[in-house]
Amino acid sequence: MKALVSNRRIATRLVNFVCGKSIGGQGGQVQDDVPIPTISPNEILVKVKAVALNPTDFKHLDVIAPPHSIIGCDYVGVVQQVGSAVSSVWTPGDRVAGAVHGGLFPDKGAFAEYLKVESDLAWKVPDGISDTDATTYGVSAVTAMLTLNVRHGLPFVQGDEAAALRDEEIFIYAGATSAGLFHIQIAKAAGYRVVTTASPRSFDLVKTYGATAVFDYSSATIAADVVKAYPNISKAVDCFSEGKSTSVCAEVLKNTGGTVVTLLPNGKSSVPGVAYELVMAYTVFGHPFQWLPPIGPKFEAKPADREALVRFYKVLPTITHILKPIPTIKQKEGFEGILDGLNKLRAGAVAGGKLVVHFPA
Ligand SMILES: NC(=O)c1ccc[n+]([C@@H]2O[C@H](COP(=O)([O-])OP(=O)(O)OC[C@H]3O[C@@H](n4cnc5c(N)ncnc54)[C@H](OP(=O)(O)O)[C@@H]3O)[C@@H](O)[C@H]2O)c1
Repeated sequence: MKALVSNRRIATRLVNFVCGKSIGGQGGQVQDDVPIPTISPNEILVKVKAVALNPTDFKHLDVIAPPHSIIGCDYVGVVQQVGSAVSSVWTPGDRVAGAVHGGLFPDKGAFAEYLKVESDLAWKVPDGISDTDATTYGVSAVTAMLTLNVRHGLPFVQGDEAAALRDEEIFIYAGATSAGLFHIQIAKAAGYRVVTTASPRSFDLVKTYGATAVFDYSSATIAADVVKAYPNISKAVDCFSEGKSTSVCAEVLKNTGGTVVTLLPNGKSSVPGVAYELVMAYTVFGHPFQWLPPIGPKFEAKPADREALVRFYKVLPTITHILKPIPTIKQKEGFEGILDGLNKLRAGAVAGGKLVVHFPA
């Protein structure tokens, strides 16, 4: 099969890590001789129809992925084969979507004509959801579930059973990111008022997805402005996690103390009573992993995170009217569209939607 495979040597990846940019060209190789994955008894084989792109995909190509790993996380496709121990949930021909741990394994990744996934870590796409929209419920949605429902302990979205409204706000920095739009929706469904940040071009977008108030993140007085309007916030998620964003979150929490969940490592809090907690969505896949071994950070397996993903993807087909798909931007078809899209993400040139690439039928 065809797949986008990592090919950077460790020296190049270390230089990219230190410089914070990509040297040595685009990286990655589209190979047409990658074996179709062999499934284990608890896995399904999926023929991939479309994929969504995340910043983590180019970060894996440039820095994290060992050579010969298939890149890509978010996909929609059709079940091709069902493992012998899989219960009757899946039948060949079913529409299926989700996220896999792309960029780590030579036989598992979404930017490929076929992928394999554990049968309980994928969701069944209902008829009313298009392939394009289905791809958006991958890394961004799963991250929002993990930070809010698991780390911050908000109630999970449950069918039509609305959570009781709370007299409480939560602060979501960078609400217009793909991750941010899912955070806003999950927090709102849990009964919170959502206070967020965005640039003015995205004010309407974050409000459409449920934000109560939005502040321009480029303002020099943003933290003070948020505290003045909302003095009792104790929970935050930083969906940007670069530059001053996490310290702005900490300042917003300064009256009550609390936790800022970050999506990238961003230092230590200097605000008394405020802690930072880094989330890596890959822990939902239930296995330990390490980046840039033997020197890079190690991540333990977190069985509770895996259980949360199982729970989330099981209920997702019934809650897409509450947790709506986020806007998408259609790319050129096939691997050309993927490589072009990754370059746009590298350049920080994507706003207002998730890049989606369809494979030719
Ligand atoms: N740890 C994890 O598990 C995890 C999971 C998901 C994502 N992430 C990381 O989280 C970050 C966001 O990912 P994503 O896919 O959600 O992003 P994305 O959809 O690619 O984000 C695009 C948005 O970023 C916003 N933005 C650009 N510059 C900004 C700035 N200086 N300050 C605040 N916002 C800015 C823009 O919003 P405006 O229109 O408002 O300017 C733009 O619409 C990435 O670094 C990604 O790698 C980590």
